Amino acid sequence: MRLKEKLQGLVPEERLSGLSDRFHVIGNIAILSLAPELEPYKKVIAGAVFSSGKNIHTVLNKTSKLQSDRRVAGFELLAGSGNTVTIHKEFGFLYRLDVAKVFWSSRLAYERMRVAAEVVAGEDVLLPFSGVGPFAVPLAARGASVLALEKSREACLYLAENAKRNRVEEMITIINADAFHMSEWLRKDFHRAVIPAPYGADGILETVLPLVKSRGCLHFYTFKKRHQIEPLKKSYEDMGLEVKLCRRCGNVAPGVSRWVFDLAKS
Ligand SMILES: C[S@@+](CC[C@H](N)C(=O)[O-])C[C@H]1O[C@@H](n2cnc3c(N)ncnc32)[C@H](O)[C@@H]1O
Repeated sequence: MRLKEKLQGLVPEERLSGLSDRFHVIGNIAILSLAPELEPYKKVIAGAVFSSGKNIHTVLNKTSKLQSDRRVAGFELLAGSGNTVTIHKEFGFLYRLDVAKVFWSSRLAYERMRVAAEVVAGEDVLLPFSGVGPFAVPLAARGASVLALEKSREACLYLAENAKRNRVEEMITIINADAFHMSEWLRKDFHRAVIPAPYGADGILETVLPLVKSRGCLHFYTFKKRHQIEPLKKSYEDMGLEVKLCRRCGNVAPGVSRWVFDLAKS
């Protein structure tokens, strides 16, 4: 039964229109983003989600947007154990994480497999902003040697655990560092760079570019409005890059989407 159907008679009809039937599930944690007008009904809504048969042990309500460079939102507990640590399965890979302490978004799941499918075994791949491993693990499973840079110590610890859990720990080197400073110490170049940059970190492209071999490629994620895309493509071409692909991968705010550019270096 759909969530709204379950809440018929428990939440006034006119308030229900502000509720989505879908909610984000990470492992066995359900995450709601309830509109203010649903505040008085948050417990009854959480009860309906809790008993939705999706093996949910905790129901959280997002109380703030993603914050700090760790990109983690604020949450309030609505139902269940309150344990914010869970194991999430994505395309057969398992990831343990604490949703209250590290970033996770299932919206990039397709992208993670699309990029991994492009890898040739034996490649060296540079992956700044690696988080708890949803790019690193599939890339390594395809035979790439991945250098994963992550500023959050917590995310690095989960990445190490997830690399082991998916039996690719030999293929992933984890560096707990600020990616913007990597050119100061990184003396290596790479066949490929995968750059799931957080909002506002576009400047990283200039840092990464010299570290990619000629005829190498970059998968660069950025947040833009549609009208900014053509000028951006032009700017990449002016940098001597060939734009192989430009794809929208999910809305993040009204009029703002995440875009991926597959760029080939000459
Ligand atoms: C949008 S998340 C992407 C995480 C992961 N790639 C994913 O798809 O789930 C950005 C990650 O970059 C990390 N981060 C933010 N600023 C950083 C920096 N300057 N250097 C390295 N990592 C950084 C954050 O801690 C966070 O884990």
